[in-house]
Amino acid sequence: MSGSAARHAWLIGASTGMGLEVGRLLVMAGWQVTLSARSTDILDRAARDIGATAVPLDVTDSAAVRTAAQHLFATQPAELVMINAGDYAPMPLEDFDSALFERLNRVNYLGPVYVLGAVLPLLRDRGGGQVLINASAAGYRGLPRSAPYAAPKAAAIHLAEALHPEAARWGVRLRVINPGFVRSRLTDQNRFHMPGLIEASAAAQRIVEAIDRNGFEIAFPRRLVWLLKLLRCLPYRLYFFIIERRVLGT
Ligand SMILES: NC(=O)c1ccc[n+]([C@@H]2O[C@H](COP(=O)([O-])OP(=O)(O)OC[C@H]3O[C@@H](n4cnc5c(N)ncnc54)[C@H](OP(=O)(O)O)[C@@H]3O)[C@@H](O)[C@H]2O)c1
Repeated sequence: MSGSAARHAWLIGASTGMGLEVGRLLVMAGWQVTLSARSTDILDRAARDIGATAVPLDVTDSAAVRTAAQHLFATQPAELVMINAGDYAPMPLEDFDSALFERLNRVNYLGPVYVLGAVLPLLRDRGGGQVLINASAAGYRGLPRSAPYAAPKAAAIHLAEALHPEAARWGVRLRVINPGFVRSRLTDQNRFHMPGLIEASAAAQRIVEAIDRNGFEIAFPRRLVWLLKLLRCLPYRLYFFIIERRVLGT
């Protein structure tokens, strides 16, 4: 960075979990940080705790996203925007719930769409910057009981891939974060063994270390991610054979 002004990051969906821990590390590294989320009490407490600014926001409200982005960039343009808002609930087939699909699609897919629509032109106008979408390694390939969560995450990865080359021409590095299992309010709902589970602070460390590095994807923990990437290459017949036995069991 040139000059003496602090670098500014806008972390959206960052009152708890990974987003809050990224904020904590960035503040410690001298960044100015703005945190957004819906629950104002928790958000205000989190922002006070780490020395950040709180801007309440629901990413599923496209007009509110646009207004917040315009206000924020008019006062102090952010060089980094992290789209971290996310929600999760497991869904076994016998509990098929269209309303759950709609709810998770709004936050996990349309949320990133609304934020990108608002911030990409603003980042271009400030001369560039970086956007991180926290998707998920669950978006690599279909896994049992995860469709309402993982299908929008797969779409978010696809969205970033599709927009990345054009965004680069605007000077914007559009990237994805694909974590495996990270301990948080979301994974606390899981009743199954989560291989490679890491703490939110460890995940945040991996994310922050990658901010000034090159590359499209930030994915961790390495062993789980490579296993899932390997599964992604398998033909359907072999993939379903393995998944039926290892995930569904007998
Ligand atoms: N934990 C994992 O294993 C894992 C793995 C891969 C990817 N991820 C992704 O990582 C991101 C962070 O998750 P986390 O595990 O750290 O969970 P978390 O602690 O529950 O964090 C989610 C954050 O998003 C906010 N949020 C939720 N809905 C929102 C909305 N509509 N508008 C604005 N903010 C919203 C939450 O606050 P409010 O509810 O107050 O709004 C909270 O601050 C999510 O996108 C998640 O899908 C998590």
